[in-house]
Amino acid sequence: MEATFWHNKWETNEIGFHEKEYNPGLTRHFSGLDLPSGSRVFVPLCGKTRDIHWLLKEGFKVVGAELSELAVKQLFEELQTQPAVEDTASGKIYTAPGIQVFTGDIFQLTGNSIGRIDGIYDRAALVALPDSMRKKYTEHLRAITDTAPQLVITFTYDQAHMDGPPFSVPAAEIETFYAPFYQLKQVQDSEVKGGLKGQCEARINVWQLIEKA
Ligand SMILES: C[S@@+](CC[C@H](N)C(=O)[O-])C[C@H]1O[C@@H](n2cnc3c(N)ncnc32)[C@H](O)[C@@H]1O
Repeated sequence: MEATFWHNKWETNEIGFHEKEYNPGLTRHFSGLDLPSGSRVFVPLCGKTRDIHWLLKEGFKVVGAELSELAVKQLFEELQTQPAVEDTASGKIYTAPGIQVFTGDIFQLTGNSIGRIDGIYDRAALVALPDSMRKKYTEHLRAITDTAPQLVITFTYDQAHMDGPPFSVPAAEIETFYAPFYQLKQVQDSEVKGGLKGQCEARINVWQLIEKA
C-alpha cells in the first residue's frame, strides 16, 4: 500500500482494524516468548493499538513505529500522557515514560535508531502489507531487531474472495520468511467469528517465533 492510502485512512477515521479491547492472541500467548518484565518490545506499524496499553501495564517498555503522526498523537492522548517530541531527519520521535514511537516509514528505521529490542509484537503489520512488500518487511524487521523473538498474528482466507488489507498470510509464507532463522510454533488457529469484515470466512493464526540457537 502507498503511504497516502494509510494517511487517508487515519484522516477519514476509517480504522476498522483498530480494536477496542486487548487482542486475545496477545494476552494469551505473549508470555510464551518468555520476556522478563522491563524488556523492550517493538511494535511495528503500531497505529494507536490498545495492545500498547496492555504491554505497558504488564511492565514492558514499548518501541513503536507508525507512519501516521495523527495516529501517534491519538495514541498518546489515549494513554493520557504528554510526550516529548523530537524532530529528526528520519521523522518525529514521541517519547514518554516507558514508550518511544517513531513516526514515518518503518523502512527508514535502523537498528541504531531503535536500540536494543528484546521482543516483537506484530499484529496487523505483516498482514497489512501486500505480497510484494512482505519479504522486504520481514528481512528489515529481523535486521533492525537482531532477530528478536516475535509474537505474530495473521489471517488466512481465500484471497480470491476479498482484497486486502488485511492480506491472507498462510503458514507456508511464515515458514518461507522465518523458518531459516526462528523456531516456529503455531499456538492458535481459530475461526474469525462472523468472517473477516463480515464478508469472508477466515482463520486467525498466532505464531511464536524464537530465534534458532
Ligand atoms: C492495519 S493497521 C494496524 C495498526 C495496529 N498494528 C493495530 O493492530 O491496530 C496498519 C498500520 O500501519 C501503518 N503503516 C503502514 N505502512 C507503514 C510503514 N511503511 N511504516 C510505518 N507504518 C506504516 C498504517 O498507518 C496503519 O496505522
